[in-house]
Amino acid sequence: MLAPSLIRVRLAPDGQFGAGFSYAIAKTEWPVVDVAFEESADALLLRTAAVTCRVQRSPCRLSFSDANGRLLASDTDGLGWPHPNATAEPGGGICRQRLAPGAHIYGLGEKAFGLERRGRRYDLVNSDPECYTWYDDPLYQSIPFFLALVPVESLGSGGKMGGATAAYGILLDNASHSVFDFGHGQSDQLSFSAETGELCYYFMAAPKLIDVIETYTALTGRILLPPLWALGYHQARWSYPDEQTVRDLASEFRRRRIPCDALYLDIDYMDGFRCFTWNEQAFPNHRQMLADLRAEGIKTVAIIDAGIKMDPGYPVHDDGLANGAFLTYPDGTLFHGPVWPGECYFPDFTSPAVRRWWGDLYAPLVEDGIAGFWNDMNEPSIFRQQTMPGVLRHDFDGHGAAHREIHNAYGTQMARATAEGLARLRPAERQLVISRSAFAGHQRHAMVWTGDNYSTWESLRLTIPMGLSLGLSGLAFNGADVGGFMGDCTGELLARWTQLGAFTPFFRNHAAMHSVQQEPWAFGSEIEAICKRAIELRYELLPYLVTAFWECSQTGLPIMRPLVLAYQSDPRTATVDDQFLLGGDLLVAPVLEPGANGRRVYLPAGVWIEFWTGQRLAGSRDVWADAPLDRIPLYVKAGTVLPMQPVIQHTDEPVSETLILRVYPGTGESLLYEDDGRSMAYRTGDSRLTRFAMRGDETWLEVVLRVEGAFASPRTQLRWEVIGLAGVPDLVEVDRHEADGWRWDETSRMLVVETGLCNQLAVRGATR
Ligand code: GLC
Repeated sequence: MLAPSLIRVRLAPDGQFGAGFSYAIAKTEWPVVDVAFEESADALLLRTAAVTCRVQRSPCRLSFSDANGRLLASDTDGLGWPHPNATAEPGGGICRQRLAPGAHIYGLGEKAFGLERRGRRYDLVNSDPECYTWYDDPLYQSIPFFLALVPVESLGSGGKMGGATAAYGILLDNASHSVFDFGHGQSDQLSFSAETGELCYYFMAAPKLIDVIETYTALTGRILLPPLWALGYHQARWSYPDEQTVRDLASEFRRRRIPCDALYLDIDYMDGFRCFTWNEQAFPNHRQMLADLRAEGIKTVAIIDAGIKMDPGYPVHDDGLANGAFLTYPDGTLFHGPVWPGECYFPDFTSPAVRRWWGDLYAPLVEDGIAGFWNDMNEPSIFRQQTMPGVLRHDFDGHGAAHREIHNAYGTQMARATAEGLARLRPAERQLVISRSAFAGHQRHAMVWTGDNYSTWESLRLTIPMGLSLGLSGLAFNGADVGGFMGDCTGELLARWTQLGAFTPFFRNHAAMHSVQQEPWAFGSEIEAICKRAIELRYELLPYLVTAFWECSQTGLPIMRPLVLAYQSDPRTATVDDQFLLGGDLLVAPVLEPGANGRRVYLPAGVWIEFWTGQRLAGSRDVWADAPLDRIPLYVKAGTVLPMQPVIQHTDEPVSETLILRVYPGTGESLLYEDDGRSMAYRTGDSRLTRFAMRGDETWLEVVLRVEGAFASPRTQLRWEVIGLAGVPDLVEVDRHEADGWRWDETSRMLVVETGLCNQLAVRGATR
């Protein structure tokens, strides 16, 4: 019992527990929990304020119930090991539990399926699928954590409670190949198992899914705030092959006034794909190029792969060998396998010394002026043989392990080594480290993108459940290649994808070699204008997005959220994955089909205000949203103050002194988080949080502001834009005095009030 709602269960194959060392877990010290213990002839009972765990003696079966005595999860079979003769390899443990009728299952991070996980079996073994689409499994990342949403009626407690639900989550803390089956083999049973090692899982219970996520991220860690530029628009391609192309690309963004914060250097910037080198022919003056780009407000991100070319004379190779940094077979023979540069050695990122060595290798690139790093092929991917042999020896932070035991954690340890190196090299700055592979807990080191998708409408549709599931599994800072990676994008697809991407945590357009150009202007002026508007809106919404990132760093609550997270007791939301919430207040319903000029949208309970027209709509129903190609359906929850800013071309521009506060009349609380967007000073209190408490409806409203924190925000002017009032107000008040400067815009039916910093805004008699 680690916390009242968090229980760790361990079963060792031979009854001997190991050190219990795990890369998934961030928090190992927990305050003592008050546990009541009861023993009877047939069972042991462990009871906290939130959960009771019952251990039936014979046969041994575990069950978990909540504070109201409602059964959440129970073993259908004993925990244990498959029969030793069942497989040639030593098998890991398996746990089988009852799967309640009507229960929904979510999580497992990156999977090419819908949001609902029930009814299928999933393999968790980090792999490079070389492009994927719906139902391809496994992919690059493995997060062995799922959440269950259980209708109370099905818990066997008797009385019906109309829409009442309970939730729990389970993390299988095992980095070997694991398998999760949610009612696939047997419709009323779920199971989870791992190829090898201890059977160790964490059970977390809570009335609400969001509380389960809070517990899960307390256990495995939360995101660090990224630099603000990481939240801007990014442009990548495999590859922008030389200096002139990169310079022209930057100029094109600025000339067309399309906001952009970062450009990417894919593998061709290297000399023969050797990590930490430059192709001096193609990038002869890279330092100058990087400095010039920086002067235009454009950061550069460079790719670094996991494999190090076997090439005597290449310093990283020689140094790695001298330091014993590369993985070996048990007899000490070095392992090598082919990747982009040819035969490569692979660093043992599970060794603290190797991580340190690896992190230091970034020094010259950092000095050159590379701002962010992109770790790829770190499943690890090895051509023609999927991945490395399971017998290779790892240090495993001094505990020793075979590759098979830690396979799924390899990529995260690479990204960690990168992030820790950058933190040493640039201690005052926040870092952007992008990784393709990940394991549970990855979020505390780096972020992820979802690898090689296709430029198809199906892949566009898939990005939503993938992003949502990653967010539910701790990896809230994620994104897909906008426009699709493999194959040729079209103008219409790029327009719709850019509109969607603008509302995902990571917003990067990336395309593969041999595919058509995919920059915002590649398909003519109409598509360019649409992409530009979507990118501009992203920049206008940055204050809101930054606040969602901050909230995530504090509580683990995802940035991009499925409706079910906020409206758990509404069964209509349980499987919705073609629309989502960004933060708590903005509902995004992207168009996901070619030729469509509208779509159906489910509005959950409450009142919603259509972003583009200001129309108020009652929720708990489907509505039709008009969506010509230049419009993505967006709705704001009544009672929201949406903090926005004027359009900028990049985040290094000085922050405008005007903060735009879009007010959507109703009752609710909204937040605005601010800091300098680049340094670590926020960690020692240099930040500011504004709380907006609103009451009212379309005829009157009052917003009260409360500010906490020392950060001296450059935003000293407020431009209030009240949307969706019934008519011109009789009275507008600021700090309880009649406001002088306000105006009513009849075309947009918007009230505009310009004020300095203030504590209160009130609008009355807006009925005409
Ligand atoms: C992998 C990556 C892709 C990258 C390519 C070349 O396929 O997933 O994003 O462009 O390698 O480095």
